[in-house]
Amino acid sequence: MTQPKTTQVTTQAKISEPKISERKHATSEGGFDVPRHVAIIMDGNGRWAAARGLPRVEGHRRGVEALRKTVRAASDLGIAVLTIFSFSSENWSRPQSEIRDLLSLLRRFIRNDLADLHKSNVRVRIIGERDGLSPDIRGLLEEAEGLTRNNDGLTLVVAFNYGARQEIARAARRLAVEVAEGRLSAEAITPELIARHLDAPDIPDPDVIIRTSGEQRLSNFLLWQSAYSELVFVPLNWPDFDRAALEGAIAEFRRRERRFGGLIAQTGS
Ligand code: FPP
Repeated sequence: MTQPKTTQVTTQAKISEPKISERKHATSEGGFDVPRHVAIIMDGNGRWAAARGLPRVEGHRRGVEALRKTVRAASDLGIAVLTIFSFSSENWSRPQSEIRDLLSLLRRFIRNDLADLHKSNVRVRIIGERDGLSPDIRGLLEEAEGLTRNNDGLTLVVAFNYGARQEIARAARRLAVEVAEGRLSAEAITPELIARHLDAPDIPDPDVIIRTSGEQRLSNFLLWQSAYSELVFVPLNWPDFDRAALEGAIAEFRRRERRFGGLIAQTGS
């Protein structure tokens, strides 16, 4: 096996070649460094509702409120990228009524909140499979991306109809087409090239992935990009997540030593 030239990675830039650099290592109002990219698995809406004898949809509604607070907090803290897992490829197996509720919350979120996001200089990006989505949902996703395209504040990546294995398979298909058409040789396929064929190749890998609800797994979220992400599991259901919880998760991230496979420890951010 070929030895890599450098075994001790001393800067994160060597791992993910970020294009989003201006907000890198921003300092929060409280004066501490924040991670550049935070990704969140917003879990526990159903449990939040069940614990209160409420229908599951109420948990999802309160989940949207928690999302608003988190986007505001992430932007205030100077985080460059916030990725949220809003609807997974596997969520289609839920009862039709819950799927309808989740889709109408997404519609409402984009219709009601897009203007505010735009005013707050948030750039919206979407990852996930768009083929097969209804034209109105596709239209809204495209509108959100189009309107905010030139904003340079927080980048909000919405993972919608997203599954990481499906994303990697899409990248493999794109590469296979290039090979079949003679534009690429199979030997030229490297991890970097695969990364460049994922859904949002310009977005740096997440520094930290937060999952709420106490569950401790990735559930097909950002499997490629999470190779060196720190995982922080927060024992709160998503509707209870807020700025303090985000700051707590970031504090936990900052206590971790990151080595990226090398020997020299990197502090969390
Ligand atoms: C997990 O809770 C959450 C989801 C399936 C989706 C997250 C969705 C939102 C926060 C609202 C919609 C998002 C947007 C962008 C409009 P769960 O239902 O799996 O909870 P449980 O595990 O307790 O049942």
